[in-house]
This record gives sequence, structure tokens and C-alpha cells, in this order.
Amino acid sequence: MSAPARRKILVTNALPYANGPLHLGHMVGYIQADIWVRFQRMCGNEVTYVCADDAHGTPIMLAAEKAGVAPEAFIAGMQASHAADFKAFGVDFDHYHSTHSDENRRLSESIYTKLKASGYIASRFIEQAYDPVKEMFLPDRYIKGECPKCGTADQYGDNCESCGATYGPTDLKNPFSVVSGATPVLKESEHYFFELSKLQGEVETWLNDEKTVIHSSVKAKLREWTAGGLRDWDISRDAPYFGFEIPGAPGKYFYVWLDAPIGYFASLSALLGNDEARLAEFIGPDSTAELWHFIGKDIINFHGLFWPAMLKGAGHRQPTGLSVNGYLTVNGAKMSKSRGTFIKARTFLDAGLNPEYLRYYFAAKLSDGVDDLDLNLDDFVARVNSDIVGKYVNIASRCAGFIESKFDGKLSESFAEALEIIDGSKRYSYESGHSAYRKIESQSGKIRTAFERRNFSEALRLIANSADYANEYVTTAEPWRLAKEQRLTELQAVCTTTLNMFRLLSGYLKPVLPSLVAQAEIFLGGDILDWNSLDKPLLGRTIKPYSALATRIDPAHIKAMIAASTDSLTPAEAPKAKTAKPAKAAVHASPLTPPASPASASEATIEDFAKIDLRIARIENAESVEGADKLLRLTLDLGAMGKRQVFAGIKSAYPPEKLVGRLTVMVANLAPRKMRFGMSEGMVLAASGDEGGPFLLAPDDGAQPGMKVK
Ligand code: MSP
Ligand code: ZN
Repeated sequence: MSAPARRKILVTNALPYANGPLHLGHMVGYIQADIWVRFQRMCGNEVTYVCADDAHGTPIMLAAEKAGVAPEAFIAGMQASHAADFKAFGVDFDHYHSTHSDENRRLSESIYTKLKASGYIASRFIEQAYDPVKEMFLPDRYIKGECPKCGTADQYGDNCESCGATYGPTDLKNPFSVVSGATPVLKESEHYFFELSKLQGEVETWLNDEKTVIHSSVKAKLREWTAGGLRDWDISRDAPYFGFEIPGAPGKYFYVWLDAPIGYFASLSALLGNDEARLAEFIGPDSTAELWHFIGKDIINFHGLFWPAMLKGAGHRQPTGLSVNGYLTVNGAKMSKSRGTFIKARTFLDAGLNPEYLRYYFAAKLSDGVDDLDLNLDDFVARVNSDIVGKYVNIASRCAGFIESKFDGKLSESFAEALEIIDGSKRYSYESGHSAYRKIESQSGKIRTAFERRNFSEALRLIANSADYANEYVTTAEPWRLAKEQRLTELQAVCTTTLNMFRLLSGYLKPVLPSLVAQAEIFLGGDILDWNSLDKPLLGRTIKPYSALATRIDPAHIKAMIAASTDSLTPAEAPKAKTAKPAKAAVHASPLTPPASPASASEATIEDFAKIDLRIARIENAESVEGADKLLRLTLDLGAMGKRQVFAGIKSAYPPEKLVGRLTVMVANLAPRKMRFGMSEGMVLAASGDEGGPFLLAPDDGAQPGMKVK
């Protein structure tokens, strides 16, 4: 068989905003891409993997101002923090750059100038909300006011958190600027537009090309958008703005999303020492390199419409593939500061948890699809302890000691023969080492395909099955019994067979668990595992003494992480203005979620029911609320999920001291509600009817705080 051609691949990850630290949700896409990159390298392909901080835009400008530092200093600090987090999680970029860089300025100007020369840029005057005190135009997320429908105060200009109405920022009653509190006025200003409609055909050609790899559901969404016709995209912002000034347009800046994806190329250019010819091999119109963007599902429009249009319009190549990840939830709900599930990458590390375990868990949940994925913390502990420690590492630890103590670390020259001894009541039988080993080796092709297609969950399922199989082999071959019975030849061969199974599994897991497998490689005598030589077993070689490769997760570390993430002063989600994304182009902002099914009062589907996260809660404290004669303020303990404050209208039926310590059932994923007395973060369940009530629900003995009710 001739060696397959070596692919040349450029892989990028979405550039994180330089306005805050990374959280575990961010890590999904980075870990996913890193696994794929490592896999491709193990297959012998030439991969270049770059990323950068996305350093421009209003939120960053304002965050820097709030911190009292220049934006340049602010983004430098963020970049250092992001780079350190990526390193700790094994996300190993070849280069980590910034969009606020000379390379990016040069490339952005060049692409813009080419688009302009080709007649794709237009300008016209538009009216926009303006803060007369702060003297700046206001993105939609910086305007709040009263809901035009129900009158609830302090609502954003897109929808009401109280009644759910949707509207535009100009519909708000008594609007105010989040920045200064001033009443916004409408002001006219000239804006620059990228005329996407002129490139619509090109975008469609790219999208419909069967060589363009994008998950079918994402392609469908993109086609829906193109079918509706691409509208002009507003790519300029007025000063004050932190970004690049547009050439020939003083006081006008590139909108952050114009220069952000160009940041991929800027990072690459910096890596290549700004060598034009080498850069062109990747980004020139005739490039034969593959170009893959790993992104989250909220930024599909930018990568699937605007970016390919920009590339085409400016005479560059277009992407080979988009890998789109869903959103992370923690314990079944959106990450929440009050629940301690808004977990920063750094907090995970500081709690003493092994970042590779998170890589494994994410991989076990990831496919090439865009479904959201859940980090259930109990399941995380159980899965890691069972799969990594109980299955994989266990294989080595069951046999390594014999090789070390009885054979000076030397493996046998061949695998174990089958053994079949029936001697009176004694029975000894195990299959041939060769056939046992083959069962795991024969999975290699399927596992490789699963990795290639980014079906990591499928790969890990096959690997875990193989690990089960290897453990079964050890259990039937009973090396400890061979040792006791002094069957040394068999013992050495059985352990050699087993350690070779372990070697295969290590190779399979290497993209997911790089540092753990690096330890395994040392243990295996410095064997460097790669996909093309994995089929050559280690025989007759001397290996190194074994020391524990992985330890179980101590649930105390999970508790510590939750505690460190629980922000009792921030009852709701992160303040939105701080983390707000730049407003998306109006036409394409709809997220990739199926339309809601028609509501019915009488019937709920199982999916409807599954949306409600019911949990056992221990009432840790109950007290009256001043100024509310029906309410009790309850502090509920949900075990690993942390604590909640809930206001319950049960005072008429229960004196508070009677409630303390008892268990009940609560709705744990109810959107937090701001009440006059504070935040209510859920709901306890009670029965009532004509015969009286409320009667609080209680579980049977044995139920523990945090358990799911279903
Ligand atoms: N700066 C833009 C991307 C520009 S790319 C040219 C951006 N930054 S971000 O910091 O908001 O997000 C970075 C990546 O993390 C995006 O791919 C985003 O989809 C992803 N995620 C952010 N929160 C996430 C979860 N909770 N879950 C999974 N991915 C998440 O968007
Ligand atoms: Zn409302």
C-alpha cells in the first residue's frame, strides 16, 4: 500500500474576546480542535494550529475604562490569562496572537482595500442611538428601559425577561444608556457597508460544494439565510471605538467582526515570520492546504456567510470546513453564578482537578453535530473514575509489577499462547494472546475514522469497549495465579500481551489525554505512539518501572470548585452588558435552534417534561421575610449543585423552624426571578386544593440533596 499523501492543514479556533477570563463553556471548542489537531499529527499530517485574542470592540473599550487602564494594557493582561489557561488544558497552539497587532492591521486594510476596489463597499447615512453624555453611539445591548408591553423596568432593548415580549431598542419606554444613564437620542452618521448580495452566488457555490465540510444542520441553516437574500453588512463604527481606523475614513473604525476572522491569518502570518510566499500557500486563491475553523454555534453566520464572502471578494481561498460546537450546560442548566456553575477555567485548575479529565469528558460527549452538551458533575466524577482510572490505567497497573519484579522489566519475545489445563477440579484456560490483542488492534480503523470525522464520542466508546476487553483478558488469564504457580514463561507472556493492549489503548487515547499518555510512553520504554506504527507490538523490549498514571477524582475537589464559583452577590447570570457580544448583523442573528413546538395546556411531551430539572433539596434555613406576610425565605442545599435562595408562599402552613433540615423537591432550572426582597432562584413544590394546603412534597428515605427527580 502506498503511503497516503501528507495533508497540509490549517486549523483555527474562534478567537476569545479579551474582555474576561475563559470559562468551561469556552473550553469545549478549544479542546475539540486540539484533539483533532493532535489526531491529525499522529496520522502524519502537517498541521498548523493558530488562535488569537479578539481584542477590539465596545465592550473591551468600556471594560478597560472601568478597570482604569488603557485598552492596550487591558488586552495584554487578558491575552496572558487566556494563553496560560490554554496551555494548562493542553490546548497547544503553534501561535497565539492578538487581533490588535500590526499583522492584523495590515491584512485587514489589504482585504478591505481589495473589497473596495472590486466595488463591494458602499457608504450611506444611518440613524442610530447615541449617548449625548458619553458622546458615543450605543450598540443595542447598551440601551435599557421599561418593557413596552408589561412595563417591567430595567429591560434590554431586545426582549423582556419578565413577560418575554420581543421588540427593538427604540420601542423601550424611558430608555437610558447603560454607560452613562443619559437618555439616548437618535443621531445620523455615515456608515460603510459590505454589499454581501453581490457575492451571494459565490457564497452559495462554496456552501453547495460537496467538498465543503459543514454539518448538514448548519448547512441547512446557512441555506435558509442565503435563500432569504443577503443584506448589506454594516462594517464601520464611529469613534470612540477600540479598533483599526478605516483607511481613507478618519474617525471611522472597522467593526470588530470585520477584523476578527482576519485575525486567523494574522496569527498565521506572525507564525511564519510574515513570509508572504509561505502565507500564500495557506491563504492564496490557489492554496491546496485545508482550512478548518472550529467555532461555537452562536457565530455560524459570521463564518458561514460573511467570512467566505470576504475571502472570495478579496481574492483569497475559502474554508474547507467549519466544525461547529454546541453550548455547554452544567448540571443540566445554563451556567449560573448563583449556582456556582459559572466555572472559570482557572477555578477548575485551582480546585486541583486534572484538566485532562475534562478533555476526556468533553470528548466523550462530542460529535460532529451542534447539540448542546452537559457537564454533569456527578457523572463527570463517575465517568472519569470508571473509564480512565478503573479501565484504562488499571490494565497497566495489573501487570506492570510482574514484569518489573520478575523479569527485570523485560517483555517476552512473543505473545502468550492459549492455555487450557483441566486437572481434576482445577481448570485453567485463556485464549491466545495474539487473538486477544487482535481484538483491540482490529478497532484501530474504526477509531481512526471516528476521530477523523470528529465523532469523538464514538471513538471513546470503541476505546472503552476495548479497555473492557483487555481487563477481561487479564481477569481470565489471572497473572497473579500464574505467579503463584511459578508458571513464569506464561506469566511473562500474558503480561506482555496485556501491556501491548495497554499500548494500543494509549495510542488511541493520545489525542485526548496527551500528558497522561506521554507518561505511558515513558513507562513503555520511550515508545512514541503514532498511528502509522501503532500496529508494531513491543516485544522483547525493556520497559520502565510503573508508577500510578492517574488517580481518581476526589469529590471534595468538585465541591471546592463549586464553592469558589458561587457568587452570592450575583444572583442572576453574568451582567449582560459586560459580556455582551457585538450586536450581530440584524438579518442573521437567529440561533441554530429548532422552532418551538406549538404550546398545549393539556399535553406535555416527554421532552417538555425533561426540560424541568427537579431536584431533592435540603432546607438548610427558613426565615420570615420582613414586609411579606405569606413568604418564607428558604436556603436550599442541593449537594454538589450548591445552594439556592428561594422565596416560597408557604408561611401560612409552616412555621420556619419546622422546616429546617427537612428534604423537599425543587425546580432547579427555573429562571431566577428578582423580587422585592432579593433573588428567587427556583421553586419548591407543594400540593394544595380546596381541602387545604400548601403541603410541601417530601421524598422517601434515602434521597440525597441534589438527586434528580424524574
Ligand atoms: N470573539 C468572538 C469570536 C471571533 S472568531 C473570529 C467570540 N468570542 S467569545 O469569547 O464570545 O467566544 C469564543 C468561543 O467560545 C466561541 O466559539 C463561542 O461560541 C464559544 N463559547 C462561548 N460560550 C460557550 C459555551 N457556554 N459553550 C460552548 N461554547 C461557548 O465569539
Ligand atoms: Zn415585559
